[in-house]
Amino acid sequence: MGVSRALLRYLVSLSLIIHAAVTTANFFKPFNVSYDHRALIIDGKRRMLISAGFHYPRATPEMWPDLIAKSKKGGADVIQTYVFWNGHEPVRGQYYFEGRYDIIKFVKLVGASGLYLHLRIGPYVCAEWNFGGFPVWLRDVPGIEFRTDNVPFKEEMERFVKKIVKLMQEEMLFSWQGGPIIMLQIENEYGDIESAYHQRGKEYVKWAAQMALGLGAGVPWVMCKQSDAPDNIINACNGYYCDGFKPNSPNKPVFWTEDWDGWYTKWGGRLPHRPAEDLAFAVARFFQRGGSFQNYYMYFGGTNFNRTSGGPFYVTSYDYDAPIDEYGLLSEPKWGHLKDLHAAIKLCEPALVAADSPQYIKLGPKQEAHVYHVDTNTEGLNLTQYGSQSRCSAFLANIDERKAAVVRFLGQTYHLPPWSVSILPDCRNTVFNTAKVGAQTSIKTVEFELPLFSNISACQQFTVHDEVSYFSKSWMTVKEPIGIWSKKIFSVQGILEHLNVTKDHSDYLWYITRIYVSDDDITFWEEKQVRPTLTIDSMRDVLRVFINGQLTGSVIGRWVKVVQPVRFVQGYNDLVLLSETVGLQNYGAFLEKDGAGFRGQIKLTGFKNGDIDLSTLSWTYQVGLKGEFSSIYTVEENEKAGWSDLTVDAIPATFTWYKTHFNTPDGTDPVALDLGSMGKGQAWVNGHHIGRYWTLVAPKDGCQRTCDYRGPYNSDKCTTNCGKPTQTRYHVPRSWLKASDNLLVIFEETGGNPFDISIELHSVRIICGQVSESHYPPLWKWSQPDFSDGSISINNTTPELHLRCDDEHVIASIEFAGYGTPQGSCQKFSKGNCHAPSSLSVVSEACLGRKSCFVGISNSIFSGDPCHGVVKTLAVEARCASSSNTLGASKL
Ligand code: GAL
Repeated sequence: MGVSRALLRYLVSLSLIIHAAVTTANFFKPFNVSYDHRALIIDGKRRMLISAGFHYPRATPEMWPDLIAKSKKGGADVIQTYVFWNGHEPVRGQYYFEGRYDIIKFVKLVGASGLYLHLRIGPYVCAEWNFGGFPVWLRDVPGIEFRTDNVPFKEEMERFVKKIVKLMQEEMLFSWQGGPIIMLQIENEYGDIESAYHQRGKEYVKWAAQMALGLGAGVPWVMCKQSDAPDNIINACNGYYCDGFKPNSPNKPVFWTEDWDGWYTKWGGRLPHRPAEDLAFAVARFFQRGGSFQNYYMYFGGTNFNRTSGGPFYVTSYDYDAPIDEYGLLSEPKWGHLKDLHAAIKLCEPALVAADSPQYIKLGPKQEAHVYHVDTNTEGLNLTQYGSQSRCSAFLANIDERKAAVVRFLGQTYHLPPWSVSILPDCRNTVFNTAKVGAQTSIKTVEFELPLFSNISACQQFTVHDEVSYFSKSWMTVKEPIGIWSKKIFSVQGILEHLNVTKDHSDYLWYITRIYVSDDDITFWEEKQVRPTLTIDSMRDVLRVFINGQLTGSVIGRWVKVVQPVRFVQGYNDLVLLSETVGLQNYGAFLEKDGAGFRGQIKLTGFKNGDIDLSTLSWTYQVGLKGEFSSIYTVEENEKAGWSDLTVDAIPATFTWYKTHFNTPDGTDPVALDLGSMGKGQAWVNGHHIGRYWTLVAPKDGCQRTCDYRGPYNSDKCTTNCGKPTQTRYHVPRSWLKASDNLLVIFEETGGNPFDISIELHSVRIICGQVSESHYPPLWKWSQPDFSDGSISINNTTPELHLRCDDEHVIASIEFAGYGTPQGSCQKFSKGNCHAPSSLSVVSEACLGRKSCFVGISNSIFSGDPCHGVVKTLAVEARCASSSNTLGASKL
């Protein structure tokens, strides 16, 4: 009771502080930001900066504080985000800065947490975001050509960039105003497409730079992947590795705006994973070779809610295999390993900023050292204990992809695993090696899974309903009309371009016409044993063909040819083509010309009198779905839709709406819906659009049984999920839920079984650690006074195994603890030949009931040496449980 009251008081005062900070701004004493060839200069000091990429609309404002706190705890100094033009200006001249688009609140939260912000205004952002962030209305500006020396485009771009800079300034958010913004970005990877625009591309780059600089934002601007970035704009690197990157002027520092720590996913694709060891290697190599600003793209990826996901075919999850997962849970060991890396880099910061450039020392054929010292001449190196102002730090790299190496450096011997970097903040002691992971592993689990409504008899339903309150009473259904559903239709001769008609107000565009089929045609087809065929030169993203109300064919692809045999009856036939977008193109030149839907010739072949050119016919156009435009997914409107009870025998059905109500599971664990039983469509909870869903299955092969961290990474290297649907789980942020009676509405296109939809809680239930005697002492110790004044030596410090459950969870049981030579890996540990009998009791004593704990790795802690002359390891597997369930036992 005492604890919870104190906790409550603490939380209240914390929220008051945050609230005060957020409402009054001025988070820092105003400071200037500039740069030299080595680094950003913040308030007069060069800095080595770790940045965490995190896009505000990919989470809810309620999630932001926790995500920012987790980024800070992970060692970030900076948060980096794009600005999403199409979210902020959905209609030309009508701005929107609320909810997930409340960028001011986001920036203020970053400032309140003491972190800096890198704001990438773009306003083209790519980002696997719909249309690369451009508002779709931008296509309709007369004479416009995007991202080139084009007056209408430049005017629109300048207006938006100005708007954002002015807004930030008004809100006092730039560093010189006491705000967190230390850096901006104009354009995004324009260098990739510049040559397509020839001279006008070059002019555009110059214009964009001048325009940005002319806004007087007072902090540096970057352009990424822009080797012709003008003076006064820093050209930065994006990629999986950026060591060795050279900016286009010796006066510019080496910045890495996008360190791709995972990759995005397409519907029907495998899930990419980037190993923590390789990621840490890339980052360490970057700082080793002179880099000074590095941003993880993404540190938190989040979710493409609504229809914000770009194309072609990007899934709703933007998890990205980032250190913080889509739900806000830490992905371990990635998050923890990087945290250790950041701490190691921070220990080197005094030397890194003091030296203008590193001294290079070749250590072997594929081994090298870079030494940072105020006087970069080795003779001058003062190799006293770290902290005694020696200002010498070194990175030792073994870039051999296969073999470990033993190297000599400044009179000492070092063992370097393959493809790894050792970090020596004092040029002597290794505090971290990128290939040695001391951080815990977390196994994420879906804590419980209950169908929203079970597919069982009515009497059983009642029993279950009484027992488990998450169950809804029923599912209801209503059909979506095929084709025309409103008076807002029009008819013209010919085929109109998809986006010109929909303006992207919906994914769906119905093309409706009639085809007359004569007796002769029927006889012709029967005699020749042929079928008439719909052919379209080129189409994206999804086409569904309906004849006389029946779905007769589907085509999926990006600018693919359609050859779809059809069946007609004698007389008039209704031909309905439904063109669907699944995220607008977000990358490439000439985006404004890309469009969607159909291109080229469109015809019916195989008729007796020759082909029918469908572009000569009159077509009726209907945009969107009836349910969508009558907002039947909202709490206010849904009752009006004429729902009827759904029975099991009525499924599966195509083009159907479903709704039900459900209660929210208790606790704070993130909530997801498992839509794996459905086909393709969209889902809403309490009127919030949780995104598109699509149960497309990844190829059966191409996934690797094991993932070897060694050697250059690419997005196909370590994939999982082969033969399974790419995405079945859809995040429903808790802030969109009420305790009970949440409205879930689903639009299903191809047919699925809503009875099997279930609700899930995501959490980390199992955590493991494995650390040996020969591991490094904990990183935090290096900055302790005892260490820095030399009164404790590194040799007297034991390594530690650290474990931590997620927020609101405590260690409820120790499933395995073995000090000695334990075998196996997380969830498969077993005792080795050497095992200290006290293992379980020592670990239990230290950890049970706690949120986090640590255990030293030494014989004395485990009451003596269980086996002389052998390097001992401690391996632990623990189970986390919600602290509210275990509060009695809690030692918070
Ligand atoms: C980059 C781009 C980012 C993102 C990334 C891939 O080229 O700048 O916005 O699209 O690729 O995730």
